Amino acid sequence: MSSGSSFYITTPIYYPSDVPHIGHGYTTVAVDTLARWHRQSGDDTWMLTGTDEHGQKMLRAAAANGATPQEWVDRLVGESWFPLLRTLDVANDDFIRTTQARHEERVTQFVQAIYDNGYIYAGEFEALYCVGCEEFKTEAEIQDGTGAFEGLKVCAIHSKPLELLQEKNYFFKLSEFQDRLLELYKTVPDFVRPESARNEVASFVRSGLKDLSISRSTFDWGIKVPWDPSHVIYVWVDALLNYATAVGYGSDPEQFARRWPAYHVVGKDILRFHAVIWPAMLMAAGVEVPRGVFAHGWLLVGGEKMSKSKLTGIAPTEITDVFGSDAYRFYFLSAIAFGQDGSFSWEDLSARYQAELANGFGNLASRTIAMIERYFEGIVPPPAQYTDADLAIQRVVAEAATNADAAIERFRIDEAITAIWTIVDELNGYITENEPWALAKDDAKRTRLETVLYTAAEGLRALAQLLSPVMPVATEKLWIALGAAETLGRLQDQPLREAGVWGLLKPGTSVNGLAPLFPRVEQ
Ligand code: MSP
Repeated sequence: MSSGSSFYITTPIYYPSDVPHIGHGYTTVAVDTLARWHRQSGDDTWMLTGTDEHGQKMLRAAAANGATPQEWVDRLVGESWFPLLRTLDVANDDFIRTTQARHEERVTQFVQAIYDNGYIYAGEFEALYCVGCEEFKTEAEIQDGTGAFEGLKVCAIHSKPLELLQEKNYFFKLSEFQDRLLELYKTVPDFVRPESARNEVASFVRSGLKDLSISRSTFDWGIKVPWDPSHVIYVWVDALLNYATAVGYGSDPEQFARRWPAYHVVGKDILRFHAVIWPAMLMAAGVEVPRGVFAHGWLLVGGEKMSKSKLTGIAPTEITDVFGSDAYRFYFLSAIAFGQDGSFSWEDLSARYQAELANGFGNLASRTIAMIERYFEGIVPPPAQYTDADLAIQRVVAEAATNADAAIERFRIDEAITAIWTIVDELNGYITENEPWALAKDDAKRTRLETVLYTAAEGLRALAQLLSPVMPVATEKLWIALGAAETLGRLQDQPLREAGVWGLLKPGTSVNGLAPLFPRVEQ
């Protein structure tokens, strides 16, 4: 994508029936990193996140806690979901709540539009429903219960009993969109990523689509169906529309034209809603489909999908209180191939923190700054004649920057970090081989020492720039320690696609003392 174009990216909107866990945090920091990368590259970027507040799950959670649904969502969003963004240093541009008037009014308008277009009809319905998923289940998604649920049908994801619902409902003619959806996956091969997700979605659609029940009449915690107020709109239809209502669908045509269409990043659990139902809804309304949907994998704890309902949930603050937000972001985004499942363990987290952040990146920064202070009174020296070893570092930096940007275009944050990390590894090797501490003992080698320390400092400048979308706190400290803030301006204003250009850090810049970026933690 060229610089200056628009880049609108979303997280799923989360259910605030309960507090956030590290799985929610994972999606959010991934989207934030992609958004920060594009923003810092000069693209007209917009990042949206929010909460999905209607439906039966919310109604029950509120009742179980002796609150009205509105009180319950207000409390959880205020006390847990807004603070999550600060905990993880997320720079979202907007936060939408589906109980906001700006959303509810436009949902009504959208649903009325597809009704007027002839895509909604009334019908009778009986099927098994999972309140955890807020979804009717097909045969393949239903299992026989075991233990306490022996003899009952349970949800394959939640392992909890399904409920038989029989109602008069309004239906969306999803089945009419089968061919247009298959055509979309064919003509826009990147519409669903990664490829495994695309294949799964395409074969699901090929196997035939059933019409979708889009209203409920047995409870009223939702947005009323405009032509029949005895029904509320199905929570997923309401929720998916957040991506459009938040950027002015039906209220601000200019903003909508500027932002839409979006990229959606979701966990693979909700891929079909985003890659099948959502584009079909948009087609029915005559609105452009999203740019693409990227499905990432699950965080596994003890081999199972981590979840609060299975009591394997871990709160993000349990990690950030010990390791900090940068380590949280770095760990999940680098250790897991984006698009595949990944196992979380405290051992793995603390081993990577120690090896890659403290000993790898942190130590490189500390010793480079310390040597500039010791040997050059804190002034970045000018480089003299570059040798092959120095030129090799320059090449590593240039390639890392190019490869990282290409990886981000493919949404492969993990590969971008791997590319950037070649700079950390090569520079650490370069310092060990060039032994600046030995050069410092010989006055005749003064100019060589200048070149070696300039090379290390300039490599750190590139690292600060390239890693700032992933670790905004540590890179900001490094930027200030390098003295770059005074001569080059704010870190977040440094154009990312030029990070690989050599020689941006100005010789003569005063460095500032640097406390360890990743301090030792108690095991
Ligand atoms: N409210 C719906 C989404 C509506 S979007 C229009 C919903 N909410 S949720 O709170 O259950 O959040 C689901 C999302 O949280 C997943 O799609 C995924 O992004 C993230 N994760 C929840 N548990 C997770 C893991 N164990 N692992 C990875 N991501 C996880 O579904």
